[in-house]
Amino acid sequence: MSRRLCLVTGASSGIGAALAREFANHGWDLALVARREDRLGELAEELKAKYGVDSLIIADDLSEPGAPERIVKAVADAGRQIDGLVNNAGAGQPGMFTETDWTDQDRFLQLMVTSYLHLVHLIAPGMKARRFGRIINVSSVSALLPSAKAHTRFSGTLYPGAKSLLIKLSEALALELEDDNVHVTALCPGYTWSEFHDVNGARQTVSNLPKFWMLTAEDVATAGYDAVSRGVVTRVPGAWYKFLVAVAKVLPDPVGRALMRMQEKRMAAQAGAAAGTSSAG
Ligand SMILES: NC(=O)c1ccc[n+]([C@@H]2O[C@H](COP(=O)([O-])OP(=O)(O)OC[C@H]3O[C@@H](n4cnc5c(N)ncnc54)[C@H](OP(=O)(O)O)[C@@H]3O)[C@@H](O)[C@H]2O)c1
Repeated sequence: MSRRLCLVTGASSGIGAALAREFANHGWDLALVARREDRLGELAEELKAKYGVDSLIIADDLSEPGAPERIVKAVADAGRQIDGLVNNAGAGQPGMFTETDWTDQDRFLQLMVTSYLHLVHLIAPGMKARRFGRIINVSSVSALLPSAKAHTRFSGTLYPGAKSLLIKLSEALALELEDDNVHVTALCPGYTWSEFHDVNGARQTVSNLPKFWMLTAEDVATAGYDAVSRGVVTRVPGAWYKFLVAVAKVLPDPVGRALMRMQEKRMAAQAGAAAGTSSAG
């Protein structure tokens, strides 16, 4: 029997590359998707050498509406079926919602929400028919914590809302597919070492955080693979973030928001006046 194949978006760095390694370590072939083809090629070689698995390389831009159909077609044209999907590609859209072009917000939504939904819509029916599937939607702990100005400044006003939709989607889809052996997980990392904060300009601010705030992409990937294998619907990696989410659930909203403001002021002071306030992934 040939190996199962998992399609991972945003596999050229950070959490996506780590999740590709995790699936490869468990014997999956990969379809690696991102814009930087050279990075995907290097990862494919690494996965072959280390785990003996095969990878398809699909260079595409998921902020383009046609990308999901092109990507799924490329896998089908290679004669493979998709048994695993990791929806992970993403980047912040820094700047105030009221001061940025709609074109930019629209591309952000296409990349962070619509492409995720479209890929699930294209791929999940096949999983259901074959009675096997593993889907991870990479959300963020920011969707589970009180709102903060930081999200606007670095990741975008829509970022927590976009990530919240992925949690509700995963919950509803997990219920819809619970009798079909298709597991769906919303993976909700906190601050994670990756290129994310270089892309959104928050590197300086994040570097000032206490070490226990920072997760590695490998920690996140291990937690994600474990959760989707067991059928856990929402997974927050790391003890610190589990604690924060538990506290946020019992705090009245105004108290939670006040605490977020205090934390933002503390981080802004640390980062210095030039860096302004903080960010969250
Ligand atoms: N780092 C954090 O603190 C953190 C926390 C919570 C959630 N997250 C989420 O985790 C996910 C992965 O982020 P990361 O931290 O691993 O960041 P990263 O290292 O910057 O990786 C982002 C990945 O997405 C790909 N990507 C970006 N724009 C794309 C586009 N238009 N089309 C196709 N691929 C695109 C990038 O590849 P190319 O540039 O080669 O296209 C890259 O592979 C994101 O959804 C992010 O929101 C991150």
